[in-house]
Amino acid sequence: MAKLSPPKIISYKKDGRKIVMLTAYDYPGAKLLDEAGVDILLVGDSLGNVVQGKSTTLPVTLDEVIYHAEMVARAATQALVAVDLPFPYCQLGPQEALRAGARILKETLADAVKVEGGANRAATIAALTDAGIPVLGHCGLRPQEIRQTGGYHLQRERELLFQDITAVEQAGAFGIVLECLEPELAKEATQAVSIPTIGIGAGPHTDGQVLVFHDLLGYIPNRTKVPKHVKQYADLRSIITGAVQQYADDVRSGMYFKE
Ligand code: KIV
Repeated sequence: MAKLSPPKIISYKKDGRKIVMLTAYDYPGAKLLDEAGVDILLVGDSLGNVVQGKSTTLPVTLDEVIYHAEMVARAATQALVAVDLPFPYCQLGPQEALRAGARILKETLADAVKVEGGANRAATIAALTDAGIPVLGHCGLRPQEIRQTGGYHLQRERELLFQDITAVEQAGAFGIVLECLEPELAKEATQAVSIPTIGIGAGPHTDGQVLVFHDLLGYIPNRTKVPKHVKQYADLRSIITGAVQQYADDVRSGMYFKE
């Protein structure tokens, strides 16, 4: 099967085929997701939270994103690989975003970048797409702006959302992540654009869904707060701690080398 391209992802919306997207940060994880038939692998700046153990995505650097994206892109034979433009490259304006986006595509061989923001990032998205760098938009809750917006809240501003998604579509994005929206608002937004919407905490009516790899699989330390919208499909924490405790018991008791 050929690798998924932005036009193919757009055609999924026309065909009524839901888009499956997950974050990925390393070679084995990406390989498993690619083999499982995930459509889009996102090297999200959420790596700051789930890989680096930080409290926000803001400290993640361009070099760190490139380091992870190279592994993911090398693993993906079918999935489209999108990579977050980390803070503050979406915010610095078209020239800086273009420089960062070009580095990402050139050094990682990923397929696209993701840009957080709406109408305020239209010029940046247009500059990237004009240069042949496919862009996935990201509207609704924007984790890179939480210092300004005051936290991870449900987004209710209807007018602003519609201005944003329209601007992002017109600027040439091939899809839009919609984060933390009332399901009915996400439904209306999905109907208002011809490119696919991919929801996270935005209800069932978007054209696809995205989740963070670690949240989906329960690959999270004890007492880590998982967002309310997350549906967890496995409990890797228990599996890993159980296996490691078994190994430790075997080593300590001398059983490790016995059959
Ligand atoms: O960084 C990320 O993982 C994201 C997704 C949660 C959409 O932006």
